[in-house]
Amino acid sequence: MQLRCELWNDCIFVNVSGDAQPLQEWLFPMLKRTRNYDFSKLRWAGKLDFELKANWKLVYENYMEGYHVFAVHPKLLKFAPMNVRWSGEWTEQVFYNDYIFPAPAEGRGDGLPRYPNLPDEDARRGLWFLCFPHFAAEVYPDQFTLLVSYPLASDKTREELHVFLIGDAADSEEYRLPRDALIAMWDDLNREDIGMLELLQLGRLSPAYDGGRRSPHWEAPTHDFGRRVIENIISK
Ligand SMILES: [Fe+2]
Repeated sequence: MQLRCELWNDCIFVNVSGDAQPLQEWLFPMLKRTRNYDFSKLRWAGKLDFELKANWKLVYENYMEGYHVFAVHPKLLKFAPMNVRWSGEWTEQVFYNDYIFPAPAEGRGDGLPRYPNLPDEDARRGLWFLCFPHFAAEVYPDQFTLLVSYPLASDKTREELHVFLIGDAADSEEYRLPRDALIAMWDDLNREDIGMLELLQLGRLSPAYDGGRRSPHWEAPTHDFGRRVIENIISK
């Protein structure tokens, strides 16, 4: 059996239906915002696996709203407070968000080599992309970290998180401590989300759940995502 696939940055993209647009076109809204980043210098540095008792759609909604940060992620909130955040926006099939953080921290721009010739304006920037429906990536000055999540059941999702670092930072002894700290940062951060997502899943099953409300300021992109999911299901 042959499957359509394309490569980008050591990642293999497979399109089972065979009707997706060309990969470079699909990724274009992300690539045009990351022209200052030399991704050819990236090397795979490690992987984290998670399995959580929550629906895939809840997982992806959580990826795109920063509204929960102040309540769920104390360390991330300290690193990038709510006043440097905005809601993000969709461009074609890619959701984009970013912020300028006040100072580098362990796991985010501190102690590891940065992309070569990165302009000052990007040295304190965090960029976040979701390429609908399946590919999420965080770009900091010292890394490219991607998340891919797979629905296993209506109440179960598997997440893979892959960290790519610049050059020798990916595997040399010299950078072992900051590399381990970076991967531990992602592990802690994602477990904070998992605890909350599993409670959300339980809440959805409660007879008291009435559908809830979205914040017009923070959750317009989340609303858009729900519409995209429904349209894709209906069109199949
Ligand atoms: Fe989160």
